[in-house]
Amino acid sequence: MSAAGPVRSRIAGTGSYLPAKVLTNRDLESMVDTTDEWIVSRTGIRERRIAADGEFTSDLALAASRQALAAAGLRPGDIDLIVLATSTPDMVFPSSACLLQKKLGIRHGAAFDVQAVCTGFIYALATADQYIRSGMFRRALVVGAEVFSRILDWKDRGTCVLFGDGAGAVVLEAAGEAGVLSAHLHADGAYADILSTPGHVCGGKVLGDPTLKMDGGAVFKLAVRVLEECAHETLSANGLAVPDVDWFVAHQANVRIISHTARKLGIPPEKCVVTVDRHANTSAASIPLALDVAARDGRIRPGHLVLLEGVGGGFTWGSVLVRW
Ligand code: ACO
Repeated sequence: MSAAGPVRSRIAGTGSYLPAKVLTNRDLESMVDTTDEWIVSRTGIRERRIAADGEFTSDLALAASRQALAAAGLRPGDIDLIVLATSTPDMVFPSSACLLQKKLGIRHGAAFDVQAVCTGFIYALATADQYIRSGMFRRALVVGAEVFSRILDWKDRGTCVLFGDGAGAVVLEAAGEAGVLSAHLHADGAYADILSTPGHVCGGKVLGDPTLKMDGGAVFKLAVRVLEECAHETLSANGLAVPDVDWFVAHQANVRIISHTARKLGIPPEKCVVTVDRHANTSAASIPLALDVAARDGRIRPGHLVLLEGVGGGFTWGSVLVRW
């Protein structure tokens, strides 16, 4: 790090983890009234992973974090901040970030969860970036981890075919030159009802419906609109334009949301990282999962401009622009 330059943050390593159990579209055909053809043509999803009994968000996060640490050449003790994005925490409290910290054997620094549903990783990355820029922390583990299979109504074909379990992680560290060029976060709670899991714990019982509810059409339209607007906002804030983007890593909800957005922006399909076919929508885990795949297979290389964009319940959306 240069002594004179301002403190910025850069991604030093990535990791990801998918549980062992595969649930294919064909498997779903025997569970609800659906077909592989319907799911693939509407969403691009072919299979998803399901966490084992007793496997929790912090376990998935641990596996992804170990990979990210190894890729960065660091040990758990080098980390002084953990920000974990999830909507499916192990328990009401402590946070899954604290449970992850315990599993990693870290006993210093700070650890907390961020809840912004499918935009969670973008919120977490933006948060960690701010802490590093301020000088408060030097090395952060930023994780998205989810077990959405546990909040689905497995009789509702309109939602249960869309989601899966998984985790992704990055190590973010202080650097003289940016890595993270800028982050842009948005929310509009007026849209809270179009995507929600409304149940809550009260008096020792779950009150209300604890499974995911969604107005698919409304989510689709809003997602494409805000992803397009946010991409323009992000690029113009940095004096850059769409052709400067080397890789578009959007929330992996649905291949049609990604391709519609990319088409509206003028980003060619070969610049879009798509992994949703292999793991379905893993909410906060989807962006770091896709990022890890493209970093490990050599698509994303030093100097590349990577546009990360998330969108999801809240309604929330946002972006992080990274010079790799
Ligand atoms: N299998 C077969 N048929 C189904 C299924 C299924 N799994 N689910 C719904 N259908 C039926 C519907 O009942 C409907 O039947 P009908 O015409 O007899 O009433 C028909 O298929 C068409 O339903 P639509 O909802 O119009 O289908 P559409 O083409 O809009 O696709 C989808 C639905 C895939 C949910 C779409 O709206 C979508 O992609 N929305 C975005 C939702 C999303 O990705 N959410 C993820 C969470 S949000 C986020 O991460 C940003």
